[in-house]
Amino acid sequence: MKIVTSAVDVIGKRSPMLYGQFIEHFHRQIYGGIYDPQNSLSDEEGFRKDVLEALRAIHVPIVRWPGGCFVSSYHWKDGVGQPRVPYFDKAWRVEESNEFGTDEFVSWCRKVGCEPYICTNAGTGTAEEMSDWVEYCNLPVEGKFARMRIQNGHEAPFCVKYWSVGNENYGGHEIGAKPAGEWGRLVLESAKMMKRVDPTIELSAAALTDLDWNIDLLRHSGQFLNWISIHQYWDQIHETNQPSDYPAVLAFTNHTEDAIRKVKGLLMAMGLENRIRIAFDEWNLKEWYHPKVHTIEQGVTKEEYVTPRDQNDDNAIYTMGDAIFTACFLNALNRNCDIVGMANFAPVINTRGCIFTHPEGLVLRSTYHVFYLYTNYMGDIVQRAVCPDMERCTVRNHRGVEETVDLLDICVTKFSDGPGMAVAVVNKSPEHFEEAELDFEAGGAVKGYYICGESVSSYNDIAHTEVFVQEEELGEFAKGMTVRLRPHSVEIFRIGC
Ligand code: AHR
Repeated sequence: MKIVTSAVDVIGKRSPMLYGQFIEHFHRQIYGGIYDPQNSLSDEEGFRKDVLEALRAIHVPIVRWPGGCFVSSYHWKDGVGQPRVPYFDKAWRVEESNEFGTDEFVSWCRKVGCEPYICTNAGTGTAEEMSDWVEYCNLPVEGKFARMRIQNGHEAPFCVKYWSVGNENYGGHEIGAKPAGEWGRLVLESAKMMKRVDPTIELSAAALTDLDWNIDLLRHSGQFLNWISIHQYWDQIHETNQPSDYPAVLAFTNHTEDAIRKVKGLLMAMGLENRIRIAFDEWNLKEWYHPKVHTIEQGVTKEEYVTPRDQNDDNAIYTMGDAIFTACFLNALNRNCDIVGMANFAPVINTRGCIFTHPEGLVLRSTYHVFYLYTNYMGDIVQRAVCPDMERCTVRNHRGVEETVDLLDICVTKFSDGPGMAVAVVNKSPEHFEEAELDFEAGGAVKGYYICGESVSSYNDIAHTEVFVQEEELGEFAKGMTVRLRPHSVEIFRIGC
């Protein structure tokens, strides 16, 4: 199959924030994940040092926090200063200690080397509470909240640039959900107050692909927004934890760009595409498993809705299939870098995350290695690429309906700060090697970086490593050179770098 591209056919400069992450106060993401003061692997602030190191290795650019659904009944003032009084979190129906709050999050981000991105409570919270949070973080000295931060030991403002109003406030599952019609006005008033405190912040607001919701939101508050926030988990298994099989995962790769196209179309129709970009600020192949938590059914016991969350931490379900999907979605984000400026893998750690912690160390799941490949080896200028003789296969999707899927998923990049190019090719074929003919002008030595594992079910666990990054030298580039793609692999070819 030929890969055809031209250096003059550029889509755009990809934002580094496409490789962002998300973390929520859910199960073992914060406590026992990034923050574990009792563990000897943690530093003086209680942050796991091995986690920090793993995140630095994938150059995490931005992390969204504290939720997720959690944020819609979270009051940030309870999580700063002393005393930290525990409360019952009505989203996830467990006690939250409030030990980890804004100061800890910002300090942790500094250690990771990423931007903090704060999502505000637009469920039970108010515009005033949201703007007080901006005061606490960003005002140098004026007012009681800046002084509160200083009293808490932080003289210099945190300068948090990225904020969002709310999380999935359109959904019945969310605490304090709002109907379209109310949402746009709440965002308007919140945004107005937040930007009066700090006009330099960049602001997003909860949205989805629904026209009515987005039109109402953008008509009311579009003037204050820099971003529109959308979420997607393709394999919707929050009640069952029965992941789709590999063919169905391949079918999901047909739909990585659906939501982006719809929202882009609307932004264009409203003439906003040059001012507002998409923040795909929660995404993952698999929905998190938390059955019965949002139900109003009577008599559901804690064991039925809390205990099952442990099953998210079964490393064996995060396979090469997840890696293939993740790479296809990162390719899609790159190809849409003219409109998508941020994306956040959900979550970064434990649950469905790319890293799993246990008391003695970490497991780097298959998806972690995809982020490693893209953040270390891909370029930032994205070129259009086509495969005129693309081969396809037919699979059954998660509903049992047949779909035709391209065997390869391709993204071609070059570098704004140096020579050469980097081409990502995902070979989705479960069993077959495929050949790709690199039918374009370039020069220099070719080096390949790839992950594949023995089978589509390969995974990593404690003392069990099947998926890891490998490298190979492939000689000098010549137009028309053929590279051999391993079955079910994610491969990056760097040429002349
Ligand atoms: O299942 C986790 C939840 O998924 C996040 O809290 C929410 O934002 C999304 O619906």
